Amino acid sequence: MQRMETFKKESSPLPFLKVEGKRKLVGHLRVSGAKNSALVLMAASLLTNEVVYLKNVPQLTDIDVMSRLLKAIGSKLKPDSNTLKIKASELNLSSNHLPYELVHALRASFVCIGPLLTRLGEVKIPLPGGCKIGTRPIDEHIQGLRRLGANVEIENDHVVAKAISPQKKLIGARIKFNCKSVGATETILMAATLAKGKTILENAAQEPEIQDLAIMLNKMGAKIKGAGSSQIIIEGVNHLNGSVHSVIPDRIEAGTFLIASAITRSPLTISPVIPEHLEAVILKLQECGCFFEYSDPILRIIPRKNLQAVDITTNPFPGFPTDLQAPFMSLMTTVKGRSKIKETIFENRMQHVGELQRMGAKIFLENDTAFVAGENSLKATSITGGDLRSCAAMVLASLAANGTSVIQGLDHLDRGYEDLSQKLNAVGASIYRCDNEVGKVSKPATKKYEDTQIFYSGTEVA
Ligand code: EPZ
Repeated sequence: MQRMETFKKESSPLPFLKVEGKRKLVGHLRVSGAKNSALVLMAASLLTNEVVYLKNVPQLTDIDVMSRLLKAIGSKLKPDSNTLKIKASELNLSSNHLPYELVHALRASFVCIGPLLTRLGEVKIPLPGGCKIGTRPIDEHIQGLRRLGANVEIENDHVVAKAISPQKKLIGARIKFNCKSVGATETILMAATLAKGKTILENAAQEPEIQDLAIMLNKMGAKIKGAGSSQIIIEGVNHLNGSVHSVIPDRIEAGTFLIASAITRSPLTISPVIPEHLEAVILKLQECGCFFEYSDPILRIIPRKNLQAVDITTNPFPGFPTDLQAPFMSLMTTVKGRSKIKETIFENRMQHVGELQRMGAKIFLENDTAFVAGENSLKATSITGGDLRSCAAMVLASLAANGTSVIQGLDHLDRGYEDLSQKLNAVGASIYRCDNEVGKVSKPATKKYEDTQIFYSGTEVA
């Protein structure tokens, strides 16, 4: 039963969350499909003129933007709850058909250059530009496409790529990336599937989303070996078929939920979880004082009351994920001791530090490293998330703060978390989301706790 309540109109611009702190959580959190897998799988649908069915697709604004972009170039899409049917049989790429505003709004869409170039022989796509967390260069994508036999130039604010061979086919090559780039690995992996001959990728990114992509591409008839390792070998084929594929669970959402358990000192179960996708995070939370049990596909986390500070350095997979650096910092402000948090992937991914300091956290920032003095009793206040993961960090910090916080920047949050406030309310949080003009709020429906708790005798996972 949805309770509609009105509370005095806040001065905050809409939408915002009101989060009541210091509540214990209990029960089970469901993990949605992985945003960063679903987006690239949608791009991969451009490699075939047959139907691709994607299941377990999260309902997020990033998915909506990618859907609009695919439609803009001629794909037919039919969403049905968390299933997406895509058919890219009539692509119509005029010179500026990839709308700048969509490519800029969703940088991840730039990977479409790979499938479009290898399927059509040429493509013109707007430069994606940077974002708040960094300049987000695309040089690795461009170098890789050139190595595959494409002429790639930047003309004004577009990238123009053309296969050089008379048949307008790309040619397999050995490509060594200068840095581990998820997006560049995905772009070149997709481009190589229809290239002539063998492609060998060295220093490839190893994220689970790349493994998921390779599994779907192989179902479509591609010949890919080694995805998930730093060397990937692709034998080009002439044609790819349609496929049915279910998106892997979102390891970053799952990690966010684990941190919600730890920061509120509340045992929780979450599923589905693939522990190998979260090993670095689980190990750090164990070091901090959390216990884990796993009984496929359910992971149970039991945090001790007194957690200890730990140091983290973000790294490409299988290292500690940069996407959980901000959420983890929220946790470190509430535990005993001092922690050092070093960001090595993006040059500007510390925007959450200022907001945490406003909540009373004691953090000293030196370039890409934050030194956190723990055991702060965070004070609820009005805060703003500057990007997707710093917004998640604000929600987590608010769960532990004294009082009720008001969080803005929900356009960022909605990019990467499906129904976050509803999911947390279902395990005992008290989060009100105000989206409309008259200040009316709807407290998301919450289920009785007992029917969400899951008991099982699992075994220690790591
Ligand atoms: C993907 O971004 C993810 N996004 C990001 O998640 C994630 O933080 C990132 O990988 C790292 O894991 C999607 O998958 C849609 P990169 P991507 O190319 O592919 C440098 C989130 O919150 N680089 O692996 O853009 C780059 O500057 C988002 O869900 C180059 O130098 O990241 C960065 O330092 C944020 N040249 C490093 O590589 C290039 O051509 C890693 O970037 C490309 C990248």
